[in-house]
Amino acid sequence: MLPFVETSHFIFSFFILIISLFLLWIFQNSRTKKNLPPSPWKLPLIGNLHQLRLSPHRSLLNLAKKHGPLMLVHAGSVPMLVASSAEVAQKILKTHDVVFCNRPILKIPNRIFYGSKDIAFSQYGEHWRQVKSIVMVRLLGNKRVQSFQQVREEETTIMINNIGDSRGSLINLSECFISLTNNIVSRVVLGKTYRNIRFKKLMEKFIDILGVISVGSCFPSLSWIDRLSGLQRTTDEVAKEFDDFLEGVLQEHLNKRKGNFIGGDEVQDLVDILLDVQKENAGNVVIDNDTIKAVILDNFSAGTDTVSTTIEWTISELVRHPCVMIKLQQEVTEIANGRSMISEEDLDKMKYLKAVIKESLRLHIPLPLLIQRESTQDVKLMGYDIQAGTRVVINAWAVARDPSLWEEAELFKPERFLNSPIDYKGFHYEFTPFGGGRRGCPGIQFSVAIIELAIANLVYKFDLALPNGKGVEELDMSESNGITTHRKIHLELVATPRF
Ligand code: HEM
Repeated sequence: MLPFVETSHFIFSFFILIISLFLLWIFQNSRTKKNLPPSPWKLPLIGNLHQLRLSPHRSLLNLAKKHGPLMLVHAGSVPMLVASSAEVAQKILKTHDVVFCNRPILKIPNRIFYGSKDIAFSQYGEHWRQVKSIVMVRLLGNKRVQSFQQVREEETTIMINNIGDSRGSLINLSECFISLTNNIVSRVVLGKTYRNIRFKKLMEKFIDILGVISVGSCFPSLSWIDRLSGLQRTTDEVAKEFDDFLEGVLQEHLNKRKGNFIGGDEVQDLVDILLDVQKENAGNVVIDNDTIKAVILDNFSAGTDTVSTTIEWTISELVRHPCVMIKLQQEVTEIANGRSMISEEDLDKMKYLKAVIKESLRLHIPLPLLIQRESTQDVKLMGYDIQAGTRVVINAWAVARDPSLWEEAELFKPERFLNSPIDYKGFHYEFTPFGGGRRGCPGIQFSVAIIELAIANLVYKFDLALPNGKGVEELDMSESNGITTHRKIHLELVATPRF
């Protein structure tokens, strides 16, 4: 009996194995039958990482020239859809906005932002919706942004005075712009400035760690390497240091409330606003202390680096283009009409200033690949099958330099925006420095108010030049690596008072 049982067991197992292999073949075949977007040839394990190098937006543009405006690249084992034309950007940001409105969970931001309880890295859903709407209405809405006018004007004056104190010697303007934006965001978000070195260092570590691409984000099964390499420990240290700082800020605000705090609208900073919402406990989502801290951090990560970088690139382009600089100085000088500083009321009349800033943002998009998104369901895009859970980047930098859309696309020509309806609010898909759709940047007005006032006053008060009679063509315009594209080398100029 026994041999028969064993033989029948063997036959049965063999039969199951054959059926399983057959089903697997059918499954794989049906998957490969999917019409996937074109992909560059990839290496085993690393996928296309070797082709991305240090400047992903430039490398991806080169790949798109061969493989088209919609392609699927592999960052290690992770497939990533890359959009490189205005048409595809429109499909993602408008036509299928709801499908592409998620963010992938990335290990470092997830740790820093208390399990992605912020806005920028939060998963699409009720938490994101509620927190974003609080911040949009109560902090970044029209009226609120206007109410911070005094903060912007005071901090701009401090910056201009500091630059004036350099008395014609070389000054590091990049550092001035970083201080300007940190101070404005600190006052609006935390209620006061933190001008000490410890805070400055903490901000630097924070921005640096957010720019790191971890092994785990490209090879989820190898995320243990981040533990071995010490990246996880460094992330934990930065998160802990910031948490200690933010706990102190929260405590200070709570103590102030226990005293004789009246809660008038004009004295409220973001921490006050969020503590009020926590107390009201009105929505379906609990605004716990971790959410408050995550949202505060979001405003620093999203709102400081991007703004100072834009000021830095705009001044760099102006120095490289003396004719544009002169034209802008004429505009601001005429409108200032002899007053010592330009105020916000003057800015609306400065059409050329607005064109200069747009042109600078076109050539130097601070987040050239925007912020990664993830699809929430299967979808057909430009005739291709895109699976749910696919990561998506839009190469906004490539689109903004597309020669089929922009005449002399590589040149800095603010005039192109003078009589053009194109702006950066997320409805012109050839120019999306702030993204678009429901995940678009809520900080446009807040940023532009800082940038316009800073640039107008800088060029009104000073003639800016390279040191030692260097020619403008000697200004190094190389970009740094990281999620935000800064100048590789800090902008150091000689600022000579104009009057
Ligand atoms: C020049 C300055 C800025 C640029 C270029 C910029 C750019 C961007 C971009 C490209 C995105 C992703 C959009 C998308 O996925 O479609 C974004 C998201 C975001 N930005 Fe900005 N930003 C700037 C300033 C600010 C400021 C000042 C704040 C706040 C104070 C801010 C807060 C945010 C937030 C909270 C998000 C996440 C939105 C979401 O996921 O729903 N940004 N920004």
